[in-house]
Amino acid sequence: MARVVVVGSANMDMVVRAPRIPRPGETIVGLQFVMVAGGKGANQAVAAARLGAHVTFVARVGNDLFGAHNLEGYQREGIDCRFIVRDEESPSGVALIAVDAEGQNAIVVAPGANMRLTPEDVARAEEEFARADVVLAQLEVPIPAVTRTAELAHKHGKRMILNPAPAPRHPLPPELLQHVDILTPNETEAQALCNAPDYASPESMAQALRALGVPVVIITLGDQGVLLQDAAGMQRMPAHPVQAIDTTAAGDAFAGALAVALAEGESVEEAVQFAQRAAALSVTRLGAQPSLPYRAEVDDFSGLI
Ligand code: RIB
Repeated sequence: MARVVVVGSANMDMVVRAPRIPRPGETIVGLQFVMVAGGKGANQAVAAARLGAHVTFVARVGNDLFGAHNLEGYQREGIDCRFIVRDEESPSGVALIAVDAEGQNAIVVAPGANMRLTPEDVARAEEEFARADVVLAQLEVPIPAVTRTAELAHKHGKRMILNPAPAPRHPLPPELLQHVDILTPNETEAQALCNAPDYASPESMAQALRALGVPVVIITLGDQGVLLQDAAGMQRMPAHPVQAIDTTAAGDAFAGALAVALAEGESVEEAVQFAQRAAALSVTRLGAQPSLPYRAEVDDFSGLI
């Protein structure tokens, strides 16, 4: 069984579907409300588990109702939760999410316990890094914890995937970037990472990110597909056309699936195709974790919904 270690955030998502995203200062009447498990780290851990990997999730949740509820959910998914800390000082992370009629979203996160994840929390799971095939992290927890993740992945010779979401406000430290094997930003995150202007092309940003020393750069472009740049060159891979209900966690479905396919020994190109199928399925459903597909769905997905 492929083994994946995921280090990252865990949130409870409060989601309202609305005709559109409200403007600053505006109140609008929405449609449906759902409260579901989310958080980029947890979403990627659940995505990988549903796709058949053994997953160890390293995280912090509050010692509160949301933390207990989410922890039970991860256990039901078969995720190894031994390295999830129940934080006594901070509440669980919460995300407020508005989803518009086109499935686009706007998210505000109150990170709570996520921001107290330490390098020591990560190091406690070192035995799992040694057994892993692939290690996966995002940027919704403190950078020192992400850096320790990359260092441990490197120490044990494991492939390190960094999904640099949300977009960082400062350049990433070289001690982190030097141990990243695969970087999977969306366009906004790529702009932030290479300090590029709004009009910069994905191709120029992929080149700039490779120049920072990352061997494989995969820029996700929503319904425009994916731009893959590695030592072999650059290629655009088109997205599967689907009816978008909610794009929340599409990037997480992609990252989790990419990790599983690579852990199973697929090539980067094959892993991207697998991840694109998982992401396409996820946007056809509302909510973060409820939208993440199971293995049989991704294997059977023929392209159109
Ligand atoms: O990537 C989607 C996630 O971002 C949501 O589940 C929300 O919790 C925020 O972390």
